[in-house]
Order: sequence, then C-alpha cells, then structure tokens
Amino acid sequence: MKTPVFVTAILLSVLSISVCCQAQKRSAKRAGLSQIIQTDFVDGAKQYKVLKANLPADSFPKTFDPKTGKPEYSGSGWWCSGFYPGTLLYLYEQTHDKVLYNEAVRILGILQKEQYNKTTHDLGFMMYCSFGNANRIQPKPEYREILLNSAKSLSTRFNATVGCIKSWDSKDPSDYLVIIDNMMNLELLFETTKATGDSSFYKIAVTHANTTMKNHFRPNYSSFHVLNYDVNTGAVKEKKTAQGYADGSAWARGQAWGLYGYTVCYRYTKDVRYLQQAQHIAQFILMNPNLPADKIPYWDFNAPDIPNALRDASAAAIMASAFLELSKYTDSAAGRRYNEVAATMIRNLSREPYKAAIGTNGGFILQHGVGHKPHGTEVDMPLTYGDYYFMEACKRYKEMKK
Ligand code: GLY
Repeated sequence: MKTPVFVTAILLSVLSISVCCQAQKRSAKRAGLSQIIQTDFVDGAKQYKVLKANLPADSFPKTFDPKTGKPEYSGSGWWCSGFYPGTLLYLYEQTHDKVLYNEAVRILGILQKEQYNKTTHDLGFMMYCSFGNANRIQPKPEYREILLNSAKSLSTRFNATVGCIKSWDSKDPSDYLVIIDNMMNLELLFETTKATGDSSFYKIAVTHANTTMKNHFRPNYSSFHVLNYDVNTGAVKEKKTAQGYADGSAWARGQAWGLYGYTVCYRYTKDVRYLQQAQHIAQFILMNPNLPADKIPYWDFNAPDIPNALRDASAAAIMASAFLELSKYTDSAAGRRYNEVAATMIRNLSREPYKAAIGTNGGFILQHGVGHKPHGTEVDMPLTYGDYYFMEACKRYKEMKK
C-alpha cells in the first residue's frame, strides 16, 4: 500500500523539526560552554593572583594540602616548574592583565638556568610550557636561545642503541629507564628543528616516538608506565609501573601523556602512524568501561576500588586538550566524538567538585588531582599541570569555536 502524500509530508516536517531542534540544542550547549570557559579564565586569573601573593621568593608552586591548609613549593629544578609561568601566560592572553604577564616574566628569570640541566628528561615540560609560550606571545632572541639550549641539554639524554631519551637513572648501570610521560618532551625538539633548521632534534624525537610505539603499548593500546631497556643492547628488560596501581594496569595520566604525545608527533610529521596511534589510545580511553559518565578518569583505569577510587582531574585536563587537537586531524564521526568528550571534560572540570571557589585551594584552579598515589604524595590535591592543561584546553576550545 502506498503512503498518502500528506502523511509523508507530515513525517518529513516532524523529522526536519526534530533535526533542527537537536542542532539548536547543540549550538546552545556550545554557547553555554563558551561562557563557562570565559568565566574560567577570569576566575583562573583571580586564583593565580592568590598563588602569586603567597609565593616565597625564588619558589615555584607545587601543591596545596586542603586538609592542613599548607602550601608546598619547589625550586626551579622540579619537573613542574614550567607550568606556573605557562598558566600565567595562558591567563594573560585571555585577560590581558599585565600583572600576570609581569609575574610570568619574573619567574622565567628564575627558571632560565634550567636550560643547562642535563640531569632530567622533563625539560620539555619545564622549558617549552614556559619559554615556548613566552616566545609565542612575545618572540625574543633570548627566549629562542634558551629553547635551543634546552633542546641541546635534552638531546644529551638520547641513546642511539636504545632509540630513546633516558627518563630516570637507576642503580644498575645497564638499566635504561623510559617512561611514557617522556613523549611530552618531544614538542620542544620538534619546535627547535622548526626554529633552527637543525634536523638532529627532529630525528631524536621520531626515533624516541617509534621505539616507544613499538615497546610501550599493550595490544589494547593502553601503555605501561616504565620500560627498562638494556643500555648495551636496546632489548626490553622489564615493563612496569611507578605511579600506577600495578605493572599491568593503565595509569590514567600515562594514557593522557601518550594520547597528547602522539597527537603532537602527528602535528609535526604528518606521519599517519602517529595519528593512528593517537586514535587507538583515544579508543582505549573512550571505550573503557571504567571511564565514568562525567569523563573525569579514575587515577588508574584498573584501580581496585572503582567506583570509589579517586579521580584525577589532571588526567582529564590533559586528555581534554589532546582530544581537541586530535579532533582537528580526524575528519569523521570520531572527530566529533573527541570534540564532544573534551567539551564534557571541560564542562565538568569547570564546576564543583573540581573547580575551586575563588580564594580557596591555595590559589590553584583545580582540585582533586592525583600526583603519585603509590608514594602517597600529592594525592587528591591540586597540581600545577592540572591547571596548565585545563587552561590550554579552554583556550583550544575557544579558538576552535571561532
Ligand atoms: N611523572 C609525571 C607525572 O606525574 O605525570
């Protein structure tokens, strides 16, 4: 039997009204998040003035214990020293508040000596999140020089037999420890090749990324935290964890570092293997039955006390920023999915219990990060990198919406 013309017309109108309503709802939701993000920048600026007011001379913010009300500080050699200036610079860009810029410049003066530090693999975090942003906002020859020296210092930790940059020292001289976090230091190397034309930094970065892709991941694309290579042969001796729940577990921030790291590798190389690696990691995160509905991950995807396990706001912030960049390279339904999940993460980080009330939390923006659970340090506390990647995710969302 043929459907009468008028019935078809009614059905089509209902369908088009419904599609139109959905589009309007999505657009209203996006407009809502843009306003929320604008408030996040204003509130973040207020909080960082609180941090600044309490900061002892020559110190860097580390965390704040909400139970005791005690702040913790570090020197410039701590792996997180670049995040305070980096966050100040992101906030300055959004608010144009010169107080934030001047404070960033002041602390960069204390940080700059780390350009010669060859005892850490964290120079990407320390020097690129800080001087990289400073040079992007206000390019200066001295910033370029500092970034070049930092890349040179980081490169001294590369070993061609292993094909990786060394993360940590070990008592056994044949050990060569590499952690997934190290993927985050490659951006400094890629940028330095771009700035100088010297391809040696680029070559180290892709070799490290390739070795890590080969050895650090499980068949489901979750990653181990620590790999121990034999420095003499390059063979893998051990696959284990330091900051996760167990050797075989998926430590949430480690998955975030991998997702972000391979997305950055694709940005600079356009090598589709890096894009696919990032997409596989994304799939592991998004399809994981232990990813909560609000998309703020538990500190470890295999924490034994899920659903009562602690959440790690820092992992959510890093993932949100990475998902936004990855969505630009993925022209498909997956791209929309990455964008939507990032929006959900930002929306939930922007409210209680994650975003702190003004004047509380020692001046940090986010609460409830998990630093090193097995050591019992910085557990359920604010973390400088949580704030940094949260502000970066907000900035990316705003720019992409434009
Ligand atoms: N080791 C860097 C981190 O805690 O993620």
